[in-house]
Amino acid sequence: MRGRFITFEGGEGTGKSVQASLLANRLRGLGLSVVLTREPGGSPGAEIIRHVILSGAAKPFGAPAEAILFAAARDDHIRHTIQPALERGRWVISDRFADSTRVYQGTLGNVDPKLIQGLERITVGDLKPDITFILDVSTEVGLARAQARRGDEEADRFERESVEFHEKLREAFRLLALAEPERCVLIDASAASATVAERVWKVIADRLDPATAPVALGDVAS
Ligand code: TYD
Repeated sequence: MRGRFITFEGGEGTGKSVQASLLANRLRGLGLSVVLTREPGGSPGAEIIRHVILSGAAKPFGAPAEAILFAAARDDHIRHTIQPALERGRWVISDRFADSTRVYQGTLGNVDPKLIQGLERITVGDLKPDITFILDVSTEVGLARAQARRGDEEADRFERESVEFHEKLREAFRLLALAEPERCVLIDASAASATVAERVWKVIADRLDPATAPVALGDVAS
């Protein structure tokens, strides 16, 4: 049986990485085999492209070119990491996926929707996540968290954008959650991470029944 595919999406400082890793640990605690991955990146080829994009080196080429680079990275990630894991019955949790391209490059970057849809069709095809969690916090909280996490390190290409950009980002993710309610679950992520993790777990337990899921091929349950 194909494994399960779960993605986390949201703006900066919403706590996606923390929640993705808490969920992975909880599923592993049930004896399930979990691949925790992220975008851009998640495979050797995609990690190289990640560096090109987040350094800002691709910004001068414009938002459509960035969308194409994100798609190239996603293609490599799917082929080398996500697809093989799902075929073995593993649970794959990705910190960001195709919705980030729809929102950052599509809505915020004003890239032609036809290009965004075309890239998604070629790379993702019908590999739809079983559940997408959209983590939602106010822009002030999100940016403060992102800054605290970064410490003295320089802000990346997207963290450097204006407060207005981040407001629009939040709105675009909220609209996405409304547009695809069967896949997307909007989670209020302003609470402490343990509380948010419980909200996430409730959805997983209700919808995917991990306690009775089969163990992946070639894996021994711990
Ligand atoms: P990252 O350091 O992974 O931060 P975050 O914790 O916010 O995920 O940076 C990824 C950045 O790339 C983030 O600002 C969102 C952006 N991004 C896009 O613009 N389009 C995409 O398709 C993806 C996957 C990410």
